[in-house]
Formats: sequence, C-alpha cells, structure tokens
Amino acid sequence: MADAAPRVPVTLDGRRVLVRSGTSVAAALLEQGHWNFRVNRVSGQGRGPYCGMGVCLECEVTVNERTHVRACLERVCEGMRIGTGTAEEEGT
Ligand code: FES
Repeated sequence: MADAAPRVPVTLDGRRVLVRSGTSVAAALLEQGHWNFRVNRVSGQGRGPYCGMGVCLECEVTVNERTHVRACLERVCEGMRIGTGTAEEEGT
C-alpha cells in the first residue's frame, strides 16, 4: 500500500527524523519504534500510550519546551521538537 501522507522533519530527543504529517505525536513515536515515552518516577518503568484518548496521561512528552503534553492528542507539525523522558536511558 502506498504511503500518501507527506513526511515532515521533527526532532525527537535531539535526533532529526521524518514522520507522517498530521498524525498524532504518539503514532509518530511508535512508528519510530519508540515505545517508552517517559519513566515512572517510583517504579522506574518505561511508560507509553495506553488509552489513546487523553485520559491515562501515560503518553506525556515535552513538545517545543511545553511539558506534560499528551502525545495522543497532539498533532505533528514540521519542525516540532519532541522530548521523551527516556533519552538518558537510551544514550541519546
Ligand atoms: S495514551 Fe492515554 S492520555 Fe495519551
């Protein structure tokens, strides 16, 4: 199946990647193979999207220096800077 959506550059944890325009930030991160969006402060476990509709808060990321952005509700824009809470653990 053809990929009709144009790809736009964003920065993900300091790396430039191309993601589908207009998709949610959560979908874009998952497509990049990024399953952990943050780390639970108590357990240290990686956390990622669960509900997909803005309720569980498991998908919070930083977008353009705005913290606690629900990735499942935020649309990708060209040049967006996305930060997860897992960058240190991944060595990026
Ligand atoms: S996946 Fe639950 S709030 Fe985003």
